Amino acid sequence: MLESVLKTIDQRRDASLAQLKEFLAIPSVSTKPEHKADMLKCATWLADRLQQAAFAVQILPTGGHPIVLARNKHVPGRKTILIYGHYDVQPPEPLELWTSPAFEPTIRKTETGADAVYARGAVDDKGQVWAHVKALTAWQAHGGLPVNVTFLIEGEEEIGSENLEAFVRAHKDELVADICVISDTGQFAEGLPALTYGLRGLCYAEVFLTGPDHDLHSGEYGGAVPNPANILCEFIASLHAPDGKVALPGFYADVVPLTLEERETWKKLPFTEEAFAKSVGIPVGNGETGYTTLERKWARPTCDVNGITTGYQGPGAKTVIPSKASAKISFRLVPNQVPAKVQGEFEKALRDRLPHNVKHEVHWHGASPAVLVPIDSKATKLASEALEIGFGKPSTFMRGGGSIPVVGLLKSVLGVDTLLVGFGLPDDRVHSPNEKFNLDALHGGTRTAAALYAKLAEL
Ligand code: BES
Ligand code: MN
Ligand code: MN
Repeated sequence: MLESVLKTIDQRRDASLAQLKEFLAIPSVSTKPEHKADMLKCATWLADRLQQAAFAVQILPTGGHPIVLARNKHVPGRKTILIYGHYDVQPPEPLELWTSPAFEPTIRKTETGADAVYARGAVDDKGQVWAHVKALTAWQAHGGLPVNVTFLIEGEEEIGSENLEAFVRAHKDELVADICVISDTGQFAEGLPALTYGLRGLCYAEVFLTGPDHDLHSGEYGGAVPNPANILCEFIASLHAPDGKVALPGFYADVVPLTLEERETWKKLPFTEEAFAKSVGIPVGNGETGYTTLERKWARPTCDVNGITTGYQGPGAKTVIPSKASAKISFRLVPNQVPAKVQGEFEKALRDRLPHNVKHEVHWHGASPAVLVPIDSKATKLASEALEIGFGKPSTFMRGGGSIPVVGLLKSVLGVDTLLVGFGLPDDRVHSPNEKFNLDALHGGTRTAAALYAKLAEL
């Protein structure tokens, strides 16, 4: 049966792409209030496609954006797979750096000569969600799926999935599954599909400093009052030691060191530091002393400034001491680190390191722990086989540096493990201008998803 399903997927390649372009054209930017209506429009568009595939679909409201929950007819005794994805996307800015507009999906060649669709959300995550929709639909055209499927697509992943925990708790019974499948990561490289067995966690602070109660002339007052912009920069500079380590007392206490075996395995992956640096336009990478780039990205915790707002931002010079300064600061966490502990260490550093004549406030965005799944399980083996069927190439194992909050949530609330079977490529420019999804990756991913449903029936 799988052979016929794969054939249907091959035949529907062009139709699949045409529909994906409709999906990508809806600007479902979760973080911006002005896109609230687009979020519902996007959820509805997706729900309609699933309904056409004979799924029972609900669009469920949350404290934020709606969740699409769909299921085929669940047959007792069969395995149940929960498929998670997200229909929300990151903001497209800076707009002027897009070759074609972010929400006008366009097909063109990549730098390596492959065909790709360019749009915000192309690979993160609408294109990968779409691979599953087309795989499910193809199975339905051949008498139905071999497994029970629950499809959970949320609209707040890019803003930390803050309403998802309450949703999962409230819908526990409907979400019970033998395994969860998420396609929101990548392949190791073109021609080397991969199963991701670890992700970093995240905690994200927004810090607000206030000095003088209004902006001041920087000549009249400069040198005599606390400048919150200067102080914020000094504080940020204090967060790293010269060896690249995060300078918060206790930050590394819970970190699980990399095993020699894992380090040796990663050294054998087809990766060079030079090509990595070149791919992002820098002469050389940097980070914690004593670690390779893959180790730094996959298995070491970090701290990064994601944005700073203060003072005069318009063109030209304005001589001013800003009254306020704020920064968005994130920590990527590795297995065994506890987000709440890191939050406490950060708040203590603010109290200890800021001068007493500036006020500070911290706002925490959603936090999630790192995840690590065993690579010797039966599910992992089945997923590797599915990738090989989908892409026609043997797959490897990798970790990812990003975070997907739902993974830890499903494990803690439902006890369900997740398979991270992603189809993206390292040069997809996720969260950046000119995000893309290679058409071969979309097609191979759709085939992989179809094969995976058949494989997981044997779990
Ligand atoms: N798909 C990514 C996660 C990802 C990226 C995993 C690269 C592995 C490699 C996801 O959409 C994402 O961007 N997550 C956010 C989570 C945050 C907003 C809570 C992230 O990692 O910044
Ligand atoms: Mn994603
Ligand atoms: Mn993302």
